[in-house]
Amino acid sequence: MIRKITLSALTALGLVAGGAAYAAGAAGHVDDYDFSFEGPFGTFDQMQLQRGLQVYTEICSACHGLQYVPFRTLGDSGGPDLPDDQVRAYAEFYEVFDPVIDDFRPATPTDHFPKSGLENAPDLSLMAKARAGFHGPYGLGINQLFKGMGGAEYIASLLSSYNGSEREEAGVVLYGNDTYAGGYLAMGPPLWGDDVEYEDGTQATVEQQAQDVAAFLMWTAEPKQNARKEAGFIAVLFLTIFSVLLYLTNKRIWAPLKGKGTTPAE
Ligand code: HEC
Repeated sequence: MIRKITLSALTALGLVAGGAAYAAGAAGHVDDYDFSFEGPFGTFDQMQLQRGLQVYTEICSACHGLQYVPFRTLGDSGGPDLPDDQVRAYAEFYEVFDPVIDDFRPATPTDHFPKSGLENAPDLSLMAKARAGFHGPYGLGINQLFKGMGGAEYIASLLSSYNGSEREEAGVVLYGNDTYAGGYLAMGPPLWGDDVEYEDGTQATVEQQAQDVAAFLMWTAEPKQNARKEAGFIAVLFLTIFSVLLYLTNKRIWAPLKGKGTTPAE
C-alpha cells in the first residue's frame, strides 16, 4: 500500500517537474524591469510616455496600428500630457479617410490612430494587457500575484532579446528571440540603438527605447490607470476612517449596558 502511494506520488511529481521543464522551454525569458507605474501608488512617467510615443511614431507605426487610441488622449493628464496645439499638430501628421467628403483629409484630435499598415503585424493598442510577462511556478500564477501581469515587461524584453539567429519557414524569415514563446517570430529586430534622437537628452539605447515604448503601450492599454489607483486609495482611506467611526459608535451605544454585572439568567 505504502509502496503504491509512494510510487504514485513520485509519478505525480515527475509529471509536474516534466510539465515545468516544458513550460520553461516554451515561454521565453522576461526581465523584471522597474516601471514607474507599478505598485499601488505608481504613476506613468510623463517624459517616458512622450519618449515612447516618439519611438512608436518613428519606428513601430511603420507596421503596427493603434486603432483604439484617439489622438486627443495624448493630451490627457496622467498620460503623455501634450499641450493642445501639439496634439493637433501631431494628429495632422496622419491622414484619415472621411466618408462625408469621400476623400482623405489630415486627422484631427478626435480621430483615432490608424490600423496596422502591415497585415500580419498585430494592433498594439491593447497589447500590453494581452500579453503576460510572468507565470508560474507550475502554472499557478503566483508570480503574477507578486510581480503583476508584466505586459510591459514582456514587450520591453521582447524588443531587447533578439539573439541573431534566423530561420526560414514556408518562405517567411523568422527571427530568433529569447522572450518570444516558441523562440522565433516574424518581426525582425526593430531597434538597434540610437534609432531615435530624444529631445530630453536621454541616451537612446535599445533597452531605453524598448522600455519607453513598452511604458507607452502600457498607457495605451490602460489610459485611466492613474485615476483608478487614486480612486482605489481614496476608497481604502474612506473605509478605514469609516471602520474606526463605526467601532467607536458601537462602543458608545452599548456603553450603558456594559459592565453592569447582570446576566439574563439571574
Ligand atoms: C517591419 C514591420 C514591423 C515593425 C517596424 C515593428 N513590428 Fe512588431 N511585429 C511585426 C510583425 C509582422 C509581427 C508578428 C510577428 C509574429 O506573429 O510572428 C509583430 C509582432 C509584434 C508584437 C507581438 C509579439 C507577440 O507576443 O505576439 C509586439 C509586442 C510588437 N510587434 C511590438 C513592436 C514594437 C514596440 C515596435 C517598435 C519598436 C515594432 N513592433 C516594430 C512587424 C513589425
